[in-house]
Amino acid sequence: MSHCTVIDHPLVQRDVAILRDKNTPNHQFRTVLNRIAGMMAFEVTHNFAVEEFSLDTPLEKTIGVRLKDHIVIVPILRAGLGMVEGFMNVLPEAKVGHVGLYRDEETLEPVDYYSKFPRTLSKSLVLLIDPMLATGGSAKAALTFLKNKGANNIRLVCLVASPAGIKIVQKNHPDVDIFCAVVDRGLNNNGYILPGLGDAGDRVFGTE
Ligand code: PRP
Ligand code: URA
Repeated sequence: MSHCTVIDHPLVQRDVAILRDKNTPNHQFRTVLNRIAGMMAFEVTHNFAVEEFSLDTPLEKTIGVRLKDHIVIVPILRAGLGMVEGFMNVLPEAKVGHVGLYRDEETLEPVDYYSKFPRTLSKSLVLLIDPMLATGGSAKAALTFLKNKGANNIRLVCLVASPAGIKIVQKNHPDVDIFCAVVDRGLNNNGYILPGLGDAGDRVFGTE
């Protein structure tokens, strides 16, 4: 069974409140979503393997460390794009893949429309990012997609998760650890997370 880590840090929780607030304008929503993503990246990466190498300071030789694994960040389009910059700020060595999915509004089933991944995918540690884990359908499909393309070491990072979404991912992808900022109480009849923050993609891109 995979592990679900809730990143219960005061700065993260403060930003969750800003993102939840319906009066937060799109430009601030984008800024805060990237900021929170950068903070979450610290917890998501805390046990990444490092390797030592020697370097010269202006004064003498010393030993430094660098990340051992190739890293690939994969946002689920569209809303996941709102977290990429925050992750790239602290993981500039990462490559970025994309998977495009939207939820059919009637069936709530994910429909895929785009994908592109770096060649290093199968030997990389992959961070799949999406602000919302609602029914779990999109994350489940994206994880299957990534595995079919060769990914075998994946962590799922979302901002707001529902208990049902976590359950679906854990049942179908027990090898994938989940990181989120908050677990909300449930879903409404349209599959929206309650209390949630609304439609994340619309709020990132101003299409509400
Ligand atoms: C949102 C969100 C997730 C998905 C979560 O995307 O960004 O990808 O819904 O819902 P689920 O867990 O029930 O599958 P959406 O389908 O609205 O597309 P968008 O990002 O293009 O707005
Ligand atoms: N997708 C969103 O953007 N928000 C939700 O609450 C559920 C799915």
